[in-house]
Amino acid sequence: MSTLPNLSFFGKKVLVTAGPTYEKLDPVRFIGNYSSGKMGYAIAELFADMGAEVTLISGPVNITISHPNVKVVKIESALEMFNTCTQLFSAIDIAIMSAAVADYRPEHYSETKIKKQEESLTIHLVKNPDILKTLGLQKRENQILIGFALENHNELENAKVKLISKNADAIVLNTLNDAGAGFQHDTNQITIILKNGAIFEFPLKTKKEVAKDIAACVLKLL
Ligand code: CTP
Repeated sequence: MSTLPNLSFFGKKVLVTAGPTYEKLDPVRFIGNYSSGKMGYAIAELFADMGAEVTLISGPVNITISHPNVKVVKIESALEMFNTCTQLFSAIDIAIMSAAVADYRPEHYSETKIKKQEESLTIHLVKNPDILKTLGLQKRENQILIGFALENHNELENAKVKLISKNADAIVLNTLNDAGAGFQHDTNQITIILKNGAIFEFPLKTKKEVAKDIAACVLKLL
């Protein structure tokens, strides 16, 4: 006998951010990071499989997704991700912010390729808006907001600070100290901290399985 699909998120509008952002310096260069987008894409696919209508805001990555319940919006910079997320958020039930957003961008974009000149080159960076924090400020009672935290020291303390300061309902903590976890890998090791103080630690798993743990936590918050 075949089992019925789990459609726990049917009727829910879910926003997922994934991948890195690229901050342009000139027509041929950018500042980026090593995020592969695998975690965010796995989350988007799982929520879609569970019946949600998913909008995936994706930075530049080498993976694709083809799912009837997933709409992909490709962006490049943190400012583009910020604009897209803030425009869509009011119609969203659950937002999961797994993107590795650049904290800073070059103050000036050079329309022409920067030429090699002196022995050293200084690039001035300015702060990008914090997307998660902005959505936290806009959040209504019935909306769920999940942030990620990537830490390599005082992991739990820093993640708890992010949970409160960004008004999230939960933080998914990745530590850079675990082998097989974080950027580029197909596996991840997470701890989820809920705003009521509950902490759930999980072993190293495939990102697909990690997405299931995140979905189970979101169900507790609904
Ligand atoms: N985030 C965001 N906008 C930014 C930076 C981060 O929305 N400009 C989100 C990330 O998507 C993630 C969470 O904030 O969900 C935490 O990201 P992280 O890089 O761990 O923390 P930061 O807030 O950038 O703080 P720091 O780099 O100082 O640890």
